[in-house]
Amino acid sequence: MAISEIKKGKLFTDEVMHHVKNAFHFVDTDLNNRRRLFFDNAGGSFRLKKCVETYARLAATPDCPERLHDTAVYLQDIQNNGQQGFRMMLNVEGGTVYTALTASKAMFDMVRVVSDSASGSNMVTTVLEHPSSYDAMEQNARRTGRELRVAGSNKATGGIDVGEIISLIDQDTALLSVIYASNISGAKLDIEAIVSQARKIKPDLYVLVDAVQHAPHDVIDLTKTPVDGISIAPYKFFGNRGMGLAWLSDRVAALTHDKLNGKPDRYWDVGSADPAQYAMFGEIINYVCELGSYATDSAEQRSQFVAGMQMIALHERALLARLLDGTDTTIGLRKLANVDVYLDHQDLTRRDLILAINFKHLDPVAAVKEYDKRGVTVFERVNTSLYSKRMLESFGLQGAVRVSPLHCHSAGDVDEFLSITQEMAADRQL
Ligand SMILES: Cc1ncc(COP(=O)(O)O)c(C=O)c1O
Repeated sequence: MAISEIKKGKLFTDEVMHHVKNAFHFVDTDLNNRRRLFFDNAGGSFRLKKCVETYARLAATPDCPERLHDTAVYLQDIQNNGQQGFRMMLNVEGGTVYTALTASKAMFDMVRVVSDSASGSNMVTTVLEHPSSYDAMEQNARRTGRELRVAGSNKATGGIDVGEIISLIDQDTALLSVIYASNISGAKLDIEAIVSQARKIKPDLYVLVDAVQHAPHDVIDLTKTPVDGISIAPYKFFGNRGMGLAWLSDRVAALTHDKLNGKPDRYWDVGSADPAQYAMFGEIINYVCELGSYATDSAEQRSQFVAGMQMIALHERALLARLLDGTDTTIGLRKLANVDVYLDHQDLTRRDLILAINFKHLDPVAAVKEYDKRGVTVFERVNTSLYSKRMLESFGLQGAVRVSPLHCHSAGDVDEFLSITQEMAADRQL
């Protein structure tokens, strides 16, 4: 691949863009058929039509999978395929796949179990964690009488420097929990370097990763980043709400955890998982593989999946570049008077498709309302919210408008957003 494509991304062809838009519900309109640009995918992404249909089809049947008849066996196969698809997505074998109602619950469970069994007098996390992992770490450090060490953020990159985390790790670190990419700035953390350098200090260190934000944007490969637990949320990854999905290494799965006595030692589900959710998740895998088949002739599932995620990453990078720098005919956000782009790291390969912007004459809440009047859905991240306060304050910010499109958007959608933003930036009456 050409260096310029890696740096600036590559838009889908018209054929692929058409295929992608058609695969999802409500990409260009809202529920009431009103034209809109939905740029709040970090709060919940567009849904694949197939996910919605397949979920409904499977949810309609009353059968319990733990039976011998045909439908029950079919449901077991669906569950096994879903788990296998998740392992394929992570490029990992073995371990335990665990579902909870939310990714937050799965993270709380993982942190509690590791905190109960790991040795060491401190736990390390970062200031950019979502509350689900930060609060789990804080509460469990307090409960187990450990020191909580928190790595600070970098205002220039919008992320966390590897060295900042590593400087907090020592022989007495029981657990490191780290976010894959920030849901405020979009900055990706260098998980590969963090894991390898941390394990040089403590080879058997437990590492958990929150990949909820990052997973829909790029390839994850646990052969390069061998962590002990990782969580995702299908509703931010083209699927439905109702399931948090986690993978646990064999050694974490075997730690003492809530379980029914008769189940195998490494089994984590308490009660019956929902086969319809697994079927829905399987459709996410199918979609990405289908997309990948535009780029590879390989019939192998992981190759297709990787090719699909790479296409998504490159298209989104090209959208990010266009948002920031515009085109010959449209001014990008970086040059727009009255607009600040926060945490604007120049290296786009280190960023997922999320932007934090601010209008000089409009506070973020007012800006979100003005966007809404113009058919654009974005979200304010403000320091009065428990979901944003710690992260924003670490950057010295009070609030921002979070702009989070998805690969389902075209260059034309970005241009439309830019001209609406330009109009708002120029309107002194607002
Ligand atoms: C980075 C990150 N982690 C975790 C979560 C929690 O996911 P869930 O809503 O499934 O609990 C979110 C949701 O906003 C998130 O953005």
